[in-house]
Parts: sequence; C-alpha cells; structure tokens
Amino acid sequence: MPASVIVGLQWGDEGKGKTTDFLAEQVSTVVRYQGGDNAGHTIVIGDDTFKLHLVPSGVLYGHITPIIGPGVVVNPATLIREFDGLISRGIDISKVRVSHAAHLILPHHVALDKARESALAGDKVGTTQRGIGPAYEDRAARLGLRVEDLLDPASTAARLARVLPEKRALLDALGATDYAEAVDADAVAALIAAWGERLRPHIADTNDLVQRAYARKEHLLFEGAQGAMLDLDHGSYPFVTSSHPIAGGATTGGGIAPLQIDEVMGVMKAYATRVGSGPFVTELTDAIGERIAVTGHEVGTTTGRRRRVGWNDAVPLRYAVELNGVSSIMLNKLDVLSGIPEILLCVAYEIDGKRVDRWPTSSAELARAKAIYEKFSGWDQEITNVRAMADLPENARRYVTALEEIAGAPIVLLSVGPERTQTIERAWRPLRHAKR
Ligand code: GDP
Ligand code: IMO
Ligand code: MG
Repeated sequence: MPASVIVGLQWGDEGKGKTTDFLAEQVSTVVRYQGGDNAGHTIVIGDDTFKLHLVPSGVLYGHITPIIGPGVVVNPATLIREFDGLISRGIDISKVRVSHAAHLILPHHVALDKARESALAGDKVGTTQRGIGPAYEDRAARLGLRVEDLLDPASTAARLARVLPEKRALLDALGATDYAEAVDADAVAALIAAWGERLRPHIADTNDLVQRAYARKEHLLFEGAQGAMLDLDHGSYPFVTSSHPIAGGATTGGGIAPLQIDEVMGVMKAYATRVGSGPFVTELTDAIGERIAVTGHEVGTTTGRRRRVGWNDAVPLRYAVELNGVSSIMLNKLDVLSGIPEILLCVAYEIDGKRVDRWPTSSAELARAKAIYEKFSGWDQEITNVRAMADLPENARRYVTALEEIAGAPIVLLSVGPERTQTIERAWRPLRHAKR
C-alpha cells in the first residue's frame, strides 16, 4: 500500500485530521496537496488537542516526513506561527518540508479576500478570509510568488514593485481600507527576507522526496483539506474553495502520478456540516440541529464560526464517492447522534415535482431541491467506549450499514469520539507496515 489519499466527502471538517493521524503511525510521509491555512484539522491525543492549519497532521509522529506540496498556497506568517506553537509544545518540526513551487499568500491576498467579501454584501461566499482565492488567482495569472522566491529577496522585490500597484488600484476600487502596509513594496520585501531566513531549511523539491520515498516502497499518505463538495470545479460553484480537494488534486498538487495511487479513503461524518454560504439541502435549523451542533462541537477550527448542521445526504455522497474513486470510507462522529430518537438520511431530491437521484448539474436546480428522507430509529446508549461494530446498538449498526450501501464503498473505520483510540476497525486491509 504505497500511496493512499485521504479525501473529505462532504463540505470539509469531516474529521480528516483524525483519520490521517490514525493512519499516520503506519506511514513514512504525509503530504498536503492543496488549500492553505483555510484548513483546520483537529487532532486529539489523550488530553492533548492540536489544531493544525498548514502543517500536515503527520507532524505529531517523529518518524514521519510532513510535506507541504506544490499545490498548497502558503502564508509564511501562519506557517512560522504554527511551527512556533508546535515547538513550544515539544513537537519536532525539523522534518517538515515545503515545496519550492508552492505559491505564497501575501498580505495583499488577505486584504483582497476581505475586500471582495465585503463588496459582495448579501452574496458572500463566506470565505475564511485567509487570502486563498486571490493567491490561486495570481498563480493562474502567472503573477504569483512562490516559496522558492523567499530565497531570492532581490529579484522578488523587483517583481513586487511591478505587481503591487495593480493590487493597490484593485483594493482601492473595492473600497478597502487599512491596506497600506499590504501594498508597501518595502514592507513586504522585508517580510519576505525574514521569512526566507526562517524557512530556508524547510524548502525542498518535494516531488523528488515523494518519488524517492515511493521508490523505497514506503507508504505515503496524501492529506486532503476541505472536501469534495467544496472543489472548485465539482462543488456547488461559486460557493466553493479555489483548489481541488478531490483525490485527483493529489496528483497535480502532491507530486504522485495517478497510477501510483492505490487507495482513496473517503472521510465523512454521520451527519453533515457546512461553513459559509451555499446550498445545503438537508440543513437543520431546529432544536435537533442545535443539539447536533452542540454535542459535535461544530465550531470552525480556523474561523471560530458556528458550522451549519444537517442530516447526511446520499446525493452528494454518491457523487463524491464516484468522483474520487473512493475505495474505503472512514465514518466519523457516530457518537454525536446517540440519544436522537429518529435519524434522517436524505436518499434523493425532489426538484419541480420529480425525484432526482443524481447531484444536480445546475445550481438553480440545486437551489430548488427538497430532500426525500428515509427514517431510522435512533439509539440511547453512549457508544464512545465501543471498539467493535458488533458491540454497537442494533439501530446504530442499521444506520451504518444503510450509509455504506448507499455510498457504495466499504466503511472500514468508524469513529466514536475525537481521541485516536476511539476508533472501530472493521474487517479491512490493515495498513500495518510502512514498507511494501
Ligand atoms: P477536518 O477539517 O476534516 O480535519 O475536521 P475538523 O478537525 O475541522 O473537525 C472535526 C472535529 O470533530 C474535530 O474537533 C475532531 O476532534 C472531532 N472528531 C473527529 N472524529 C470524531 C468523533 O468520532 N466523535 C467526536 N465526538 N468528535 C470527533
Ligand atoms: P478543512 O480542511 C470547511 C469553506 C469556507 C467557504 C469556502 C471558501 O478544515 O475541512 P476559502 O477561504 O477556502 O476561499 O473559503 O470554503 N472552507 C471550509 N469549510 N472546512 C474547511 O477546511 C474549509 N476551508 C474552506 O467556509 O465556504
Ligand atoms: Mg476542519
């Protein structure tokens, strides 16, 4: 099992951090392949909680090389802050490697993200305001600066002097305020020089590291951020992020070839959440939704925003399984549904009086979709200490089996609490050895 991809099957926050951490013990390398510090991955080990934004979850293991791949957008200030936070807690970050080709998020990207969102008024995407979209825009426009540019402050300063006036005009047109520092070429050049000095030991050709580890038959894990339904092309555009969280993103953004990937593990929650705007057919705005949000601590790791909560939805789930070529699933947060008398699962949509099983191709149709639900009896027992499928209450097993059938891929891991050990391993191909 040399290369596995971990991918979110919903709108992010499915518990990818826990999944990666659970599997990390058995792998040599964990690679983030897209997104930036919009991600928030929480890992709980005993009494310790770690919240990671840019550094791959494998950093908590000494034997792992954590890699930030070329498809990631890197805000060096965040990365350095995250390094310092980890160091202060005794975590060794010396093995973290950042691709020379990853693009930088600079202060003007953050300012633009905020200004665009303000200008959208009632139509906001609800971004994390981390500058993700504007940084990817500059990458596509071939205007961006890359991590390698941190090591060449002189030529970088010249390029900044060309780019920043355009950004100043744009910010001005958007009615932004407080952006003077962000477009001050000298101030940004000074930041770049300092960041370069600090990050120099971590900058590497990560594609080479990935391919050499693969050639040594080591096990590599590609850790997705966000989720399939936030994919730039395949999610509910424009309420998406600006990168490709789907498994295919691991090839362009992680440095692994399609045929080198052996496993795609999809991660989902027992219910659904979404942060920010956009269609959410199964959204719950009642007391049950409130209860799930409170029990599941559904507050954004990155922004502290309350996540929107809803029932699990088989329509995007089947689509995400297909799109990612999911070979196995980890189902998280089953414990959060304990004590809810009746659990609903959306099996299809009704659009203009017709039953629709497939994810709608038009956003206008999606906006008119109503959920068709199947109902499941709930269970009262606490399940956080259960470690075998057979020991789950019968109604919980029924719900899990229904989800598995509807998804069309085996649920091989089941999580019943945030802690690493609160995991049920079902019959599956164990990933016990780092070597093939
Ligand atoms: P990610 O972005 O996909 O890594 O997910 P987040 O870390 O943003 O959100 C998932 C949250 O659920 C984190 O706070 C996890 O500690 C927590 N979590 C993960 N699995 C479980 C579980 O099975 N039960 C409970 N109660 N919490 C979980
Ligand atoms: P993890 O990795 C949940 C959402 C934002 C917004 C949209 C675009 O923790 O699952 P962006 O800042 O990316 O331009 O925002 O995407 N979003 C996430 N939602 N989990 C995430 O990451 C997210 N990253 C971005 O809320 O709706
Ligand atoms: Mg998250």
